[in-house]
Amino acid sequence: MNASDGVHPDIFPRSFLKMRLYARLTAGFLMTALSLAAQTSPKLASTPPMGWNSWNWFAGKVTDKDIRAAADLMVSTGMRDAGYVYVNIDDTWEGKRDANGVIHSNEKFPDMKALADYVHSKGLKLGIYSSPGPLTCAKYEGSMGHEEQDAKTYAEWGIDFLKYDLCSFRQVMREKYPNDHDAQDKMMREAYEKMHQAILKTGRPMVYSLCQYGFDSVWQWGPEVGANMWRTTGDIKENYDRMMVIALSQAGLDKFAGPGHWNDPDMLEVGNGKLTHDENVTHMTMWAILASPLLAGNNLTKMTDDVKSILLNKEVIAIDQDKAGKQGNRVWAGEEMEIWSRHLADGSTALAIFNVGRDRNKMRGMTLHLKDVGFPNGAHARDVWAAKDLGRIKDTDVFEVPPHGAVLLKLTK
Ligand code: GLA
Repeated sequence: MNASDGVHPDIFPRSFLKMRLYARLTAGFLMTALSLAAQTSPKLASTPPMGWNSWNWFAGKVTDKDIRAAADLMVSTGMRDAGYVYVNIDDTWEGKRDANGVIHSNEKFPDMKALADYVHSKGLKLGIYSSPGPLTCAKYEGSMGHEEQDAKTYAEWGIDFLKYDLCSFRQVMREKYPNDHDAQDKMMREAYEKMHQAILKTGRPMVYSLCQYGFDSVWQWGPEVGANMWRTTGDIKENYDRMMVIALSQAGLDKFAGPGHWNDPDMLEVGNGKLTHDENVTHMTMWAILASPLLAGNNLTKMTDDVKSILLNKEVIAIDQDKAGKQGNRVWAGEEMEIWSRHLADGSTALAIFNVGRDRNKMRGMTLHLKDVGFPNGAHARDVWAAKDLGRIKDTDVFEVPPHGAVLLKLTK
């Protein structure tokens, strides 16, 4: 079962996403974002959270057994030791509330506390999912009116991560304030803050992950409501076009991310659908440049060596997890190629070249725009995916990038 059968085809055209992003990136808001960023706890999610989430592969079919198997496989495949520590149950675990309003898991998850104990015994952490609305996106029980009670239940179970997904709360907002978007947005922020406070009250650290598809420029106020990460777009799908629409729409969001609070362009599809080796490399490269949370979403029981080598590439993970926490940005864009870069804590720069051309059969040469990233006199380069030092390179050197592929370089003076 794959999430392509899922129920939320939340797809925006690229032009629309760009319009929304650019229209909202104003200098005034930037100042607000920076001052609010200082309010989040730097210890939790001091680098982008890494783990695995059930939705992209299992969607509504996930069970306790699948989560235990995922935990086992995260250890045996080396994922845990590479940094993937969160095992996140997405939507469809929710059962009914009892007479006291306490939420219970459904028959697919007979004992959530026992499951958390099992996941913890493997040196991993457990994540869960809910909605500020009455129903989740898959129409299971949401947290509306039960925020403190639910946070308390999660803490008692031993939950370490909460993804809080807007879903049916949109309807609640619209009904309360028809035709008043500002009032609706305010109501949404308050709902996210309410769960933030409920989590704080439990005293248990939980990564707080907002999922409201990037509405109302969430990157500007996410830190204020305690978010450690926030989705910046609608749902990813396991195909190159959708993944790249999301990736390329992230330009300009770099200034809103940093230790403890990250832009989240959605969970990884590496290893899913018909994504080719080069497309998976592009996906992982872009998420590393963007300092994105790395939440794998593949079928761990059938992970090929190729997919493993992409998800577990230590040098690429090190770029994603760089302790300076500076998200990268677009340097240059042409019709068929794009260059993005990211500054790293040791003074080096990660530079990625993407072949985004429509023609699948050609390799494209590309010069590097080195002066635009602070290397006017050339640089020492390491080809990260090839794990090969290239020695000194010049701006005019031509790199061949396979169709839908990427080259990732680490540059030093
Ligand atoms: C929304 C979210 C997805 C997933 C589903 C679950 O579509 O964006 O990531 O959590 O809901 O129903």
